[in-house]
Amino acid sequence: MTNVPWWRHAVCYQIYVRSFADSDGDGVGDLAGIAQRLPYLADLGVDAIWLTPFYRSPQADHGYDVADYRDVDPLFGSLATFDEMLAQAHELGLRVIVDIVPNHSSDQHEWFRAALAAGPGSPERERYVFRDGRGADGGKPPNNWQSVFGGPAWTQVDDGQWYLHLFDSGQPDFDWDNPEVGDEFESILRFWLDRGVDGFRIDVAHGLAKESGLPDVDEFVLAAADDLTPSGLSARALAARPYWDQPAVHDVYRRWHRVLGSYEGDRMAIAEAWVPTAETLARYIRRDELQQAFNFLWLQAEWSAAQFRQVIVDTFAAVEPVGASPTWVLANHDVIRTVTRYGDGPVGVARARSAALAMLALPGSAYVYQGDELGLPQIDVAEADRQDPTWRRGGGVGRDGCRIPIPWAADDAPPFGFGPNGSAPWLPQPSDWGARSVASQERDPESMLALYRSALRLRRELVPGLGDRVTLVERGAADVFAFARAATRPGESGLVCVVNCGAAAVPVGDLGEPILTSGPGVVSDGALAPDAAGWFRA
Ligand code: NOJ
Repeated sequence: MTNVPWWRHAVCYQIYVRSFADSDGDGVGDLAGIAQRLPYLADLGVDAIWLTPFYRSPQADHGYDVADYRDVDPLFGSLATFDEMLAQAHELGLRVIVDIVPNHSSDQHEWFRAALAAGPGSPERERYVFRDGRGADGGKPPNNWQSVFGGPAWTQVDDGQWYLHLFDSGQPDFDWDNPEVGDEFESILRFWLDRGVDGFRIDVAHGLAKESGLPDVDEFVLAAADDLTPSGLSARALAARPYWDQPAVHDVYRRWHRVLGSYEGDRMAIAEAWVPTAETLARYIRRDELQQAFNFLWLQAEWSAAQFRQVIVDTFAAVEPVGASPTWVLANHDVIRTVTRYGDGPVGVARARSAALAMLALPGSAYVYQGDELGLPQIDVAEADRQDPTWRRGGGVGRDGCRIPIPWAADDAPPFGFGPNGSAPWLPQPSDWGARSVASQERDPESMLALYRSALRLRRELVPGLGDRVTLVERGAADVFAFARAATRPGESGLVCVVNCGAAAVPVGDLGEPILTSGPGVVSDGALAPDAAGWFRA
């Protein structure tokens, strides 16, 4: 495995920076807070961390509205704090992936301010998507596109023109047909690569190119697409549109491939591309494009053996022809927390434990969202406390419920070690989260944290001796899914993972003793309990 790039088998931990660890007591997580908690992550056994945006930003979308791509927002620290944190992470053997937001900037970015000042027809306006409106007085938006966060995707400025924002009005879309935009982003990538980052997570990677002429979305599609998917994501974000997954995005990633390849150390990028099929996703990871793309099919699957099997089959069928390795994602800061998504109370927890074991047994790379290793549930945030622009724009209850600051200490009251005592986190934590804290779970050998630690440790031991392919294994029950990875070294055993999505216990005695199970006592008398999973050497 010596020549294999690190990211092909890496487990990457997603840090939602605002909610991870607050070093200075302002209620918002920061880079120094991350640095303090790096030993926790090294101990957990992950290989890499991905940091959500910490750049200068008015925080209209909590950092996904970048005003200066080459600086750290004072809320999170400074470039010097970033460099220190990066050096400490590297010392602990952790790679660092930073978020890059190329689809849009903040409306406070100097380019956008210059565009407003320069007026219609100016070269400054051509870096963004400005258009005249429709109707006799130009008082109607240029087309019928809707923002992913709700409401029209256009805002009118004082001189009467409109600008496009697929997200919040504080996030104007760049015009990637303008070569200046591509040049600027190459320079931004190089700025962070020169500082030593190991990779990038590309925000809205499928959105950069727009269909020429900016045609209306079909009215029928528009009317049909407002439901929430099981993961909590609006179907609007997924449906075919003249601004998603246009062929020209691939030219951007071919260029980025060359940029990454001009650095030592297997630098990489992973696409956040919400596209409907594994096959479409695989276009982003062709040999001359990006290294990885998030496989959201895994988090969109319901608790169903048939669905999990299908995702595995489709994923390998798509990635193998392009020579890429798969990724697996159970959650992130945009979707419903895993334990809640899989069911109420103990059922959801049992299933989340099993889904984690399945994900960590699969070949490829896994992305773990902070707090999933603690089994944190989705929180119903009171209206008065909601911060997500999605809520403000009428696009749903918002995503605050999966972004509650992490409880570290087993205290009786917030902030549970998230920040210094007495500081109030930017989103309120439930009063009983001391019991879910890292400190509490470290004392409990049956906790979610203990399970993640064991699974990650075992995975590290096993992966060098396991092949990159999976074979689905028939276990005689439709609602059980199982897969095997063969050993690469003669005479050694492979790994079999069995997940019981059904309502009855199923026999697994023929596989021998499990080397890891999703919970205590889930294998008894040679049978695997409902909602449980096990790893076997077979
Ligand atoms: C995807 C990010 O994950 C999400 O949090 C953000 O709101 C949108 N992109 C817009 O940047």
